[in-house]
Amino acid sequence: MSKRASGQVVRKAVVPAAGFGTRFLPATKAMPKEMLPVVDKPAIQYVVEEAVAAGLDDVLFITGRSKRALEDHFDRNLELEDVLRIKGDDERLTMVTESTDLARIHYVRQGEPLGLGHAVLMAENHIGDEPFVVLLGDDLIDPRDPILPRMMQVRAEFGGSVICLMQVPRESISLYGCPAVAETSSGDVVIVTDLIEKPDTAEAPSEFAVIGRYLLDPAVFEVLRATKPGRGGEIQLTDALRVLAQMPADEGGGVRGVVFSGRRYDTGDRVSYLQSVIQLACERPDIGPELRTWLKEFAAELP
Ligand code: UTP
Repeated sequence: MSKRASGQVVRKAVVPAAGFGTRFLPATKAMPKEMLPVVDKPAIQYVVEEAVAAGLDDVLFITGRSKRALEDHFDRNLELEDVLRIKGDDERLTMVTESTDLARIHYVRQGEPLGLGHAVLMAENHIGDEPFVVLLGDDLIDPRDPILPRMMQVRAEFGGSVICLMQVPRESISLYGCPAVAETSSGDVVIVTDLIEKPDTAEAPSEFAVIGRYLLDPAVFEVLRATKPGRGGEIQLTDALRVLAQMPADEGGGVRGVVFSGRRYDTGDRVSYLQSVIQLACERPDIGPELRTWLKEFAAELP
């Protein structure tokens, strides 16, 4: 095990939210896509709740032009709280204060959205020389199937960085980052030997897709500083992970993948976002029964 790995508790989470969110325009013209509601809570709040549940109580948002909505959501709204208090609406009062009390939230601005790798590099000052977790609001992990604790175990055992993988049908691999892997003696852990961002189906080195949870060694910052713009002219986190995968363990290198087989909701494009909203809403005890009844009737009449 690398010396860097021993005894370093993971405490900090980074949530990038500075992308243009072009796939959701015009909804994302004045707010980050991470603020889109999934049923009645912004996607980013699910992600912060997941981080906090895993013991990460220090959360850094990487924000862009439209950070106002984000900041306001995680801040107090005294006027609204007063109105609810006067009405005696304790349930909703709890809802609006919940997001404020979740974690210690910090913000750093990414001047220009030059890519996910560049967004992560913006976290360097805040993170320092500690391992940290990056969570993307595009992927919501069901709280009944947490994955961060397993990723932390793997980091504690082997050091280096740990990414989260999911088996997907070969024909959809071109939507994701895809690793070349070597098996280990643990069924749910693989060694990542290489990575390709959104490969053509024929070139995909495995049937694993990288999903939006990364436990990164701080060595990633030095690598990102040297990473040139890649696919789409963006500084890609995938390219930095590729370099980390080849680096020696005593320099913070090595990348392992944990294979996630739990429930995940994809909110990254319009169709998968709508599917996720419907799935989660159907499971809710307050609105689920009514929605399911309507949905069955609606589906039965679809052409
Ligand atoms: P995406 O590529 O999914 O987000 O980036 P996007 O660019 O906002 O979306 P589209 O493709 O235009 O619809 C993955 C994550 O990285 C963040 C995004 O906010 C998203 O959470 N990101 C991306 C940044 O913070 N900065 C960037 O420069 C790029």
